[in-house]
Amino acid sequence: MRRYHVTTFGCQMNAHDSERIKGMLEELGLGEAASPDDADVLVFNTCTIREKPDTKLAAYLGDAGARKREHPDMVIAVGGCYAEAQRDRIFTRYPQVDVAFGPGTISHLGEWLGAGGEGVARGAWGIAEERRFAATLPMHNERRFQAWVQISMGCNSVCSYCIVPAVRGREVSRRPGEILAEIGGLAEAGVREVTLLGQNVNSYGRDVETDFAELLRAVDAVDGIERIRFTSPHPKDFRRPVIEAMAECAAVCEHAHLPLQSGSTRVLKAMRRTYSRDRYLRLVEEMRAGIPDLALTTDLIVGFPGETEDDFRDTLTAVEEVGFDGAFTFVYSPRAGTEAAAMPEQVRDEVKRDRIERLVEVVQQAAARRNAERVGRVEEVLVEGPSRTGESLLRGRTRRNTTVNFTGDAQAGDLVEVRIDSATSTTLAGAQCAAVAV
Ligand code: SAH
Ligand code: SF4
Ligand code: F3S
Repeated sequence: MRRYHVTTFGCQMNAHDSERIKGMLEELGLGEAASPDDADVLVFNTCTIREKPDTKLAAYLGDAGARKREHPDMVIAVGGCYAEAQRDRIFTRYPQVDVAFGPGTISHLGEWLGAGGEGVARGAWGIAEERRFAATLPMHNERRFQAWVQISMGCNSVCSYCIVPAVRGREVSRRPGEILAEIGGLAEAGVREVTLLGQNVNSYGRDVETDFAELLRAVDAVDGIERIRFTSPHPKDFRRPVIEAMAECAAVCEHAHLPLQSGSTRVLKAMRRTYSRDRYLRLVEEMRAGIPDLALTTDLIVGFPGETEDDFRDTLTAVEEVGFDGAFTFVYSPRAGTEAAAMPEQVRDEVKRDRIERLVEVVQQAAARRNAERVGRVEEVLVEGPSRTGESLLRGRTRRNTTVNFTGDAQAGDLVEVRIDSATSTTLAGAQCAAVAV
């Protein structure tokens, strides 16, 4: 049997897409190899959001190319956002690559790999105009109790720093009936937690005559689904009906990942985020008033072109004012072809480095404060397996999406109550009380 190995970079959407790639290859009769060294087909599902994943991929492809010289029958396939961004150059830049495909053309990978027995279609490329939902492909679910569910593809925003609209195309919503049928099937197979995925989940549905709030309510009504998460919403589209649905639907978790990007209204404008600092802060107030015990996490960028020390301080004070439960912090990375990459006032590397260090510290302090408030409480935890810190501990996540390491005898997939005894800026620790009756 021929065997494949998939290496995944980037966001949850790519994690989802990789499960579809695996599902499709398995349906074509390939088996999964435990390591890339044992694989006949090496797939890289790439990201190009910043320069770092590009550089990492170059190293991986270097290794893969070296192995291929010893095993000339090996096939190297590169898919995802980097492949799409480099579609005109990928085969010249990396001659060891046999097949390339974009995020919307995963379904072609099988034919190009010669699954029909015709041999590998080297140099084959998908046509971006034929974009298809990866969600229509077979799935190889890595986690038995949790699943990613794609609700849309592409992005209609024009954030000036971001490459995603160029590589994932215009936004298209998946039909609600299809989404609900998939989730119904997942629930029957034992899945208890779904994460709805889109580049901007809050603009979901405009093209299929529904909206995100309605979708949340419909998913909430699916038997067996105990937890609903989603990522990412755009603050500009976070409206009252969604807040109400979050508050009223028992399965929708009390957590929103709400990317702020910058606390400076001036920088937000240059980023084309279409909200101001004040509007974001008002939205946070409205969400917290409507959804008791809400956890808020965010994405932040430092060193956007033209960002002054004062602008940066606005980001620091916004983090303190909101009191985020966590944040992904990024150094601005110019992406070829984006508006911001051509802006004249690029910030020097050492300034960016200094700012990210200061930001991380403020983020950690805020998160540590928020997590400390959980000590002494009992949290509902979905058990994911043994803890990464020690085999005798279990690991899971609260509804507010914080990782908990705890003592107990539960199985992966159980919902249990855990008494929280201590906290750091990123995790909680405690002891299991009893199984939650559901
Ligand atoms: N569609 C999602 C996620 C976009 S990518 C959303 O809009 O929320 C995830 C994060 O990467 C973004 O929120 C942003 O903080 C960061 N990012 C995007 N482009 C970047 C760039 N050029 N440099 C640094 N960080 C970037
Ligand atoms: Fe990129 Fe902005 Fe779209 Fe998010 S909303 S994917 S940051 S363009
Ligand atoms: Fe990266 Fe593409 Fe996701 S660029 S962050 S893998 S949408």
